Amino acid sequence: MRKVAIIGAGIGREHLSAYRALPEHFEVAAICDLDRVRAEDIAGGIPVETDLAKVLSSNVDIIDVCLPPHLHVSTAIAAMEAGKDVICEKPVATSLADVDKLEKVAAKTGRAVYPVFQYRFGVGVAQVLHLIRSGLAGEAFAASVETHWRRDADYYAAPWRGTWAGEQGGVILGHAIHAHDLICLLLGPLAQVSAQLATRVNDIETEDCAAITFTMQSGALVTSSATLGAGDDTSRIRLMFEGFTAESGLSPYAPAASEWTITPRASSAEAITSALAEVTAPRMGFQGFLQAIATGEDAVTLAQGRASVELVTALYASERTGRPEQLPLLRTHALYEGWQP
Ligand SMILES: NC(=O)c1ccc[n+]([C@@H]2O[C@H](COP(=O)([O-])OP(=O)(O)OC[C@H]3O[C@@H](n4cnc5c(N)ncnc54)[C@H](O)[C@@H]3O)[C@@H](O)[C@H]2O)c1
Repeated sequence: MRKVAIIGAGIGREHLSAYRALPEHFEVAAICDLDRVRAEDIAGGIPVETDLAKVLSSNVDIIDVCLPPHLHVSTAIAAMEAGKDVICEKPVATSLADVDKLEKVAAKTGRAVYPVFQYRFGVGVAQVLHLIRSGLAGEAFAASVETHWRRDADYYAAPWRGTWAGEQGGVILGHAIHAHDLICLLLGPLAQVSAQLATRVNDIETEDCAAITFTMQSGALVTSSATLGAGDDTSRIRLMFEGFTAESGLSPYAPAASEWTITPRASSAEAITSALAEVTAPRMGFQGFLQAIATGEDAVTLAQGRASVELVTALYASERTGRPEQLPLLRTHALYEGWQP
């Protein structure tokens, strides 16, 4: 049983529900928010604190950082130096230099940082991973990803959103980051990216539309379309493997929540059906993410968080130079210290 303090009572509310569903692994011992009323609104009897320093000096084991992006790295470092493991909402950091700082402090203190990527957890992704691991997928040829969400003025009422200083990036950092993480999980590391970005929907500093292409190290070609100007919220992923095509549903924030449509191509339908019958629906979303930390099986690693920050860095670099960007990025890269203008 590990004691957790949730810092930030926005998305922290959903983290809290997930901890509550896993009482054998976690006990939430504190909710911390500068806004006491907001914290009390979700706490349901859990002690509330407004001073992060007090929480850091308490006996909790895990600090769960649900703060705006510009506060992630400083809070995670302070938590590790206080002897705590860290769960950190996306983006875990907003520069490669900062992720490298996190890695150094983690190594020095022996603590862990778990970047939040809860979209990975659910039956759809489990199906595709199982087919890949069973050898039924073969080569990945191509894929497409859509992050078509709607964000209006009320969303941008939180003063940190839509700004370079607060949110630190737009749709490629705050929204499509989940779908892009899934692509890297299912198709392996990236070799090259190209991006066109624009602010077309809301009166904000950061981008809210993106047209992106990825070349994976395997050679697979991926297109990603992202906007915050859709009529409603949908996410969709289609993966074309040698053995089959896999297509998610349209659930915006939990694309793995339901089974994906698998259409056989080179692998036999029978082999696919019997492999899929072996997949038992895992816990999904935040619950799956936290259970993976508790059991040590398929927990999201800081190295995977670093890959997502590297991808965002490469996308901004490509957009600004008008050229494709090769990965991995070196520590001498022009945007190593960050992409914020
Ligand atoms: N994984 C996901 O699907 C998902 C979804 C939504 C948000 N997020 C991420 O979660 C993070 C928070 O987003 P949100 O929508 O909950 O934001 P939010 O603005 O609704 O909540 C942040 C809270 O942090 C509090 N806060 C700010 N500074 C603080 C401090 N120094 N000490 C204590 N509390 C402080 C604020 O009072 C606020 O209540 C962001 O990084 C965002 O990208 C992730």
